[in-house]
Amino acid sequence: MPHDPAPSLLYDTPPATPAAAPRPASGAAFDWIDTARAERHRAGLVRTLRPRPADSPLLDLASNDYLGLARHPEVAHGAAEAAHRWGAGATGSRLVTGSTELHAQLERALAEFCGFEAALVLSSGYAANLAAVTALTARGTLVVSDAGNHASLIDGCRLSRARTEVAPHADPEAVRAALTGHDGRALAVTDSVFSVDGDAAPLPALADACRSRGAALLVDDAHGLGVLGDGGSGALRAAGLAGDADVVTTVTLSKSLGSQGGAVLGPARVIEHLVNTARTFIFDTGLAPAAAGGALAALRLLQREPQRAARARQVARELHARLTAAGLAAVRPDAAVVSVRAPSPEAAVRWAADCRAAGLVAGCFRPPSVPDGISRLRLTARADLTDDQIAAAVDTIVATAPQV
Ligand SMILES: Cc1ncc(COP(=O)(O)O)c(C=O)c1O
Repeated sequence: MPHDPAPSLLYDTPPATPAAAPRPASGAAFDWIDTARAERHRAGLVRTLRPRPADSPLLDLASNDYLGLARHPEVAHGAAEAAHRWGAGATGSRLVTGSTELHAQLERALAEFCGFEAALVLSSGYAANLAAVTALTARGTLVVSDAGNHASLIDGCRLSRARTEVAPHADPEAVRAALTGHDGRALAVTDSVFSVDGDAAPLPALADACRSRGAALLVDDAHGLGVLGDGGSGALRAAGLAGDADVVTTVTLSKSLGSQGGAVLGPARVIEHLVNTARTFIFDTGLAPAAAGGALAALRLLQREPQRAARARQVARELHARLTAAGLAAVRPDAAVVSVRAPSPEAAVRWAADCRAAGLVAGCFRPPSVPDGISRLRLTARADLTDDQIAAAVDTIVATAPQV
């Protein structure tokens, strides 16, 4: 039976107001976007999406598929088989229905390969970094973050409510100084290989700085996994820090492993803490089975063919040597990223466009995605590039280089 509310003894019932006629929609609320767009155009900072065909004739030196595994038949098969067996989606968050045996298998394989006690897989490397930084900090924690860190670590710091101090790039003594005198929990965060210039962080010295002050170290090994360390087992293994009680690392499954997703690796108690507290883990649908299956297949392939890691590093060194010999300002690569300085954002955009017109896809990094305001052509070395392809890429880059 419908419930009639009793008349209020305290308030007069307000007279029913006739429903106002809806106003016509006006775009004025978004007019500010046109102003922002015009500013981007003026500054040469417009970004556009360029959907690629499945079989592009262009030579790719822009993707992060360092080992050439994204389209490897075994990896594609691992992804397809997982989708058929487990479904197209994970069906829920990891704590509800989104944890399959495949996720657990991938976590064990990643932990073992990289030398850590435990691992937790998330839907992206971005989510893994947010999870690690926010779950390992609280109000009052001091976070010391390298000035060249990836946006996902920076966003983790922003979300964390901790006090963040930005340390000069790759400077362990600055990290030590920032940690000095802080009473309480502290965490230093760094990329292992910086995405913009491809230089490596001084991990042993950073670990020493942290240990001298009782701080934990979090390393984003997105560009190290599959490239650095024995057979591509990562920068932490290469630095002798894998599995240490005060070290946590994050990885992405979307670069060397040719799939999609991310993971946090560390001591079992840290991983258990993340399962219980990391919001980007708890409130996010589990990684799609196809991505988990693809990553697992790539990991197994890399274990069988460890020479892929060394080849990616060799290709990077080769690119750097030839570009430098041609007079270009290429940064010495520590992993598979090779960065070449451009005189301005406009010049970098034009350079990348000229390369594309000549059949080569190169990345273009410019403000605001670069911490130091320097624009670059960013090349990624792939283990599956042939010597002829390397030579052709260098010829194109040199022939289209801006005149300074
Ligand atoms: C250093 C670094 N960390 C994290 C990420 C994010 O990883 P994902 O693409 O899996 O979200 C990237 C991706 O570009 C990266 O370069």
